[in-house]
Amino acid sequence: MFKHSIIFLIHGLLIVSSETPESCPTIKSRSQWSARESTSHNYLINPLPYVIIHHTVTPECNTFSSCSSRVRNIQDYHMDEFQWSDVGFSFFVGGDGNIYEGVGWTEEGAHTYRWNKKSIGVAFIGSYQAKNASEKMINAAHKLIECGIQLGMLRPNVKIIGASQVSSTKSPGEKLFQQIQQWSEWESDP
Ligand SMILES: *[C@@H]1O[C@H](CO)[C@@H](O)[C@H](O)[C@H]1NC(C)=O
Repeated sequence: MFKHSIIFLIHGLLIVSSETPESCPTIKSRSQWSARESTSHNYLINPLPYVIIHHTVTPECNTFSSCSSRVRNIQDYHMDEFQWSDVGFSFFVGGDGNIYEGVGWTEEGAHTYRWNKKSIGVAFIGSYQAKNASEKMINAAHKLIECGIQLGMLRPNVKIIGASQVSSTKSPGEKLFQQIQQWSEWESDP
């Protein structure tokens, strides 16, 4: 009887932990976009208090194949030109409405000087200085944040900021910066 309930409990836990919360957007894994292996690992302390929004300042993409290729190019650039251990961003938002996993929820990225240990960096693929990001991309990014809270990767009171608020950059672009200010999680005074 006792043995039975332990087996039942273990089964229950396995089922719970393998379930993806409903709030999660489609996240294309590293293997799906054919990522290179990371050359070293630095782990974050989750749940994290901040999400920092960037743009990639590359051409946009609108299909799984073109977005995957964009992300691969950015990873190559970060690893080969900057000698980083992996792509710098935690996640990407594609114009196809999918999220692409960079270093993910648990590994430290290289996206925002002095903020990498306390945040994840989410990069919108494209350039949003003079053009709004599409509704599809905005919704996918916002869902990713809700998903991170549900997974226990982000604090329930997580604050969202634009990279330009904490470093000398135009990222995520003037238009996208205005768009993220519509989110209730946006923080004006990080
Ligand atoms: C761009 O986004 C802003 C919100 O930041 C909105 O007020 C504006 O109408 C949008 N412009 C277009 C052309 O969709």
